[in-house]
Amino acid sequence: MLMGKTERVLERREKAMKEKRIMIAYISKHRGNTYKIAKVISNELGAEIKKAEEVAPEELLNYDLIGLGSGIYAFGMHGKIKKLLKKSGNGNGKKVFLISTSGDPNGSKYHKGVKKILEKKNFKLVGEFNCPGAYYPWLLFGKKGINADRPNSEDIEKAKEFAREIMEKWI
Ligand SMILES: Cc1cc2nc3c(=O)[nH]c(=O)nc-3n(C[C@H](O)[C@H](O)[C@H](O)COP(=O)(O)O)c2cc1C
Repeated sequence: MLMGKTERVLERREKAMKEKRIMIAYISKHRGNTYKIAKVISNELGAEIKKAEEVAPEELLNYDLIGLGSGIYAFGMHGKIKKLLKKSGNGNGKKVFLISTSGDPNGSKYHKGVKKILEKKNFKLVGEFNCPGAYYPWLLFGKKGINADRPNSEDIEKAKEFAREIMEKWI
């Protein structure tokens, strides 16, 4: 019998979980916005999820697929994500996807710095996910902040869809 897309995704997730082939390392300092998305994606993929601070650079290379998640802080992903990559060995074409949340609705453009390092270290970028995240810089926007309810259920659905695409193409 031919397997449908859903069954295929489920089967791959179970296999990935058993074999511990996927890991997401994240930093989510401001409101836990990026963690929300990273967690949803890790559930979909059957991935381990760890704070970037708790991941040793050489550990990254133990996985077939690596997710790196971060809020956007001062126009880029957190320096610890960059450091992790810089200190890891040569990626040897290992697959990486990026996750971020940002004040800016088009936050993927701030992945640029990390993407440069990926290229330099010979990692293969296989996907990027960004959505707005609540941001409360009091001095700029007062107590209302921006993106107050984000990530919302629609963002979560998009994150799930992103994870399924990664699963279909790269696992
Ligand atoms: C110190 C700081 C700097 C930020 N700088 C930017 C920025 O340059 N561009 C942007 O779009 N959002 C910026 N933001 C908003 C965050 O990217 C957004 O709130 C994100 O969802 C935070 O994710 P987190 O809760 O996972 O930390 C900044 C937030 C903080 C706290």
